[in-house]
Amino acid sequence: MKKEELQAIASQLKNPTGEKGIEMANMMHETNINMTRHSIQNLHIESGNTILELGHGNSGHVEFIFEQAENIKYYGLEMSELMFQEARRINRNFVSQKQAFFTLYDGNKIPFQDNFFDKIFTVNTIYFWLEPEKLLSEIDRVLKQKGIFCLTFAEESFMKQLPFTQYEFELYSTEKAENLVQKTTFKIIKKETLTEKVKTRTGELVDRDFTTLVLKRD
Ligand SMILES: C[S@@+](CC[C@H](N)C(=O)[O-])C[C@H]1O[C@@H](n2cnc3c(N)ncnc32)[C@H](O)[C@@H]1O
Repeated sequence: MKKEELQAIASQLKNPTGEKGIEMANMMHETNINMTRHSIQNLHIESGNTILELGHGNSGHVEFIFEQAENIKYYGLEMSELMFQEARRINRNFVSQKQAFFTLYDGNKIPFQDNFFDKIFTVNTIYFWLEPEKLLSEIDRVLKQKGIFCLTFAEESFMKQLPFTQYEFELYSTEKAENLVQKTTFKIIKKETLTEKVKTRTGELVDRDFTTLVLKRD
């Protein structure tokens, strides 16, 4: 594949736009649903919880969140205008019932007050964080005391085999992510790496290792 094609894939994954962006988001939803469910399950959502997700893509998984407990509020933050619109369209019932709320932001400053969320999660976004320590301190700020944050990502050992990750992506091993977290006030209370089979663009099945770090605010 040509350099320009690889760059276009990387750029769509970082910030989906246009017709191609909708297709890419549908494909991501299917390929990443296992990772997303793993992140959500590790939140141990309880009745009455207020949840935040960063970088939800088309947010086809929101129904799964509402199956976890009663009386939940879900907030989604995106940098992609297209994903913001797709998520609102796909979840219009939850939006009109004021159970799900979607907002665009700049990727740095989380537009919510301190101590607002019980649980926060993000899947496959850390690669694109421009200032990871600052974003983690924003997550810490909007999370309630003793709140939980699940950080889920595919391992560098797998991601580096994908030719488009040489553009736009900052790859993380578990160790590198742990080192990042150690510079913050979060404590790692659990880490789990799973291996799953995923389909490549050419249709073959390959093993993908992914990790969820469960972080607690002290
Ligand atoms: C690779 S996609 C992953 C989508 C979905 N979470 C999944 O795993 O299928 C990355 C998404 O994160 C968004 N994004 C990129 N940087 C972000 C940031 N700093 N904060 C929140 N979202 C971000 C992109 O717009 C894109 O929709």
